[in-house]
Amino acid sequence: MTKCDYLIIGGGIAGLSAAMEAAKYGKVIVLTKGKAGEGATEKAQGGIAAAIDQIRDSTQFHFEDTIAAGAGLCDEKAVRILVTEGVERVKELIEMGARFDRAETEAGGGFALALEGAHKRRRILHAGDATGEEIQRTLGSKVVSEKLADIYQYTLGIDLIVENGKCLGVNALDLKSNKTETFIANSTIITTGGLGQVYLYTTNPEVATGDGIAMAYRAGAAVTDMEFVQFHPTSLVQFEDLKDIIALPRFLISEAVRGEGAMLLNTKGERFMQKYDVKGELAPRDIVSRAIYKEMKENNSDHVFLSLVKVGAEKIKKRFPVIYHTCLERGLDITKDNIPVAPSAHYFMGGIKTDVDGKTNIANLYAAGECASLGVHGANRLASNSLLDGLVFGHRAALAARSEIRNHKSETNPKSEITKAHLKDKELQRFKLIIKSNMWKEVSIVRSKESLLQAQKMINEVDRKLDFEPAAKEEIELKNLTLLAKLITQAALDRPESRGAHYRSDFPKSDDKNWKKHLVYKKS
Ligand code: FAD
Ligand code: SIN
Repeated sequence: MTKCDYLIIGGGIAGLSAAMEAAKYGKVIVLTKGKAGEGATEKAQGGIAAAIDQIRDSTQFHFEDTIAAGAGLCDEKAVRILVTEGVERVKELIEMGARFDRAETEAGGGFALALEGAHKRRRILHAGDATGEEIQRTLGSKVVSEKLADIYQYTLGIDLIVENGKCLGVNALDLKSNKTETFIANSTIITTGGLGQVYLYTTNPEVATGDGIAMAYRAGAAVTDMEFVQFHPTSLVQFEDLKDIIALPRFLISEAVRGEGAMLLNTKGERFMQKYDVKGELAPRDIVSRAIYKEMKENNSDHVFLSLVKVGAEKIKKRFPVIYHTCLERGLDITKDNIPVAPSAHYFMGGIKTDVDGKTNIANLYAAGECASLGVHGANRLASNSLLDGLVFGHRAALAARSEIRNHKSETNPKSEITKAHLKDKELQRFKLIIKSNMWKEVSIVRSKESLLQAQKMINEVDRKLDFEPAAKEEIELKNLTLLAKLITQAALDRPESRGAHYRSDFPKSDDKNWKKHLVYKKS
């Protein structure tokens, strides 16, 4: 058994932001399922939004854009905190050494600020198209070089330990020895990121199986906004092996590319976004994703094209080096060739219900980052607001939890055991494919009662086969994916209207009178 004051499950932007603050008050342990640094944060491309240009921009404009994208479900208090404290946190990040691209003029504080969909001002700080890697590097080196936390890599949190309504820590699996291990803490902060891996097509890394949300739900925490999954309009479509599709994410083509003038074309070579929204290619993500979905259906194709001719070869190579080189490795010279793209599951607006201090309904349990849901993104997140969310609310959760730095006694007497898998690999992959393909086909960009009931039937069939205590990593993840698929599908059924990222073809309009509210689920 290992003890600490703060146990942080997850080492992305939210986890490390929490760790930096928590280290001021006590001993911190961070668990990461994979290698430290592996997660959505390091994959982030476009950038981090903050109104640092106080001449052409303001926190009020950023607030308004965030609220507008959220389609009526944003919590104004949370958004106000995001946009104001966000500026402070980003400045700290720069002081810590984050190297964002600079402009030749002093406008925008000397930074080259980018534009993305549904932002009315240029406010995206970026490091080429590898912003997440730069942020993860900056935070990671601070935590490691200043010994702010003990990082346990390849340590998978399985289930929370809750006694008498208080969270005492987590039971975990050491993936190197396959032994279980118990971590006891005064405060536990879940920062395990998103759940894109519930879907067949996703931009999310392999670790994004929603473990933290599933374990919190099992422990009695409330989850909310489970129907709101954001589909990014443009991920690279290539000939893919089924084995790869199940395991690997689709490579993202950043929205910032459209911010610099890239155009969407259907397979007939026609530009189409103006038909759907006056903002064209820079309309909110849900609108662009649905427009692409419709064009693909009408043209019987699995992709549309993204043309970067208007961006120009020099700018492409300088501003988007990762996208340029990755596409080149895959046989596409994007200075000349159109990129075949389609939407993929990208971001989860729902998650563990918290207040603006990361508090859940379980004492001593906090959550922050993509696994948490406090209404900051409403029904649809504004581009580049997610990194900011992790930075701001990770910090706030650690700050709020400092009052709990006192030792409490645990009655648990854990044993370290070697675990053994129940399922054969072939069976496990088959169940995973059933969940992921049904979620993609029936519960993605366009849903209906009929499609949701069909998905529910298939998910329940898999669920019935998983009636055992999962032991191996992939089994634990499959159980979590199945639980989350059930919750997303149920919430999508329970919301008979369309709002933000949740679109029901049988209820295509928003119904503010009855449904301008959040759905909350708790294990009965
Ligand atoms: P993550 O960074 O995903 O970290 C999760 C951590 O939890 C990892 O350390 C993982 O190992 C750990 N973990 C998970 N499960 C367990 C477990 N059971 N036990 C122990 N540890 C566990 N947002 C923006 O604002 N701007 C962008 O430009 C942008 N681009 C993106 C590009 C891509 C390709 C993707 C996928 C997302 C992008 N996003 C972007 C979204 C953003 O990156 C994420 O929402 C954000 O990084 C999430 O941070 P996080 O700290 O909550 O989780
Ligand atoms: C992108 O670069 O398009 C992703 C940005 C985001 O998810 O906010």
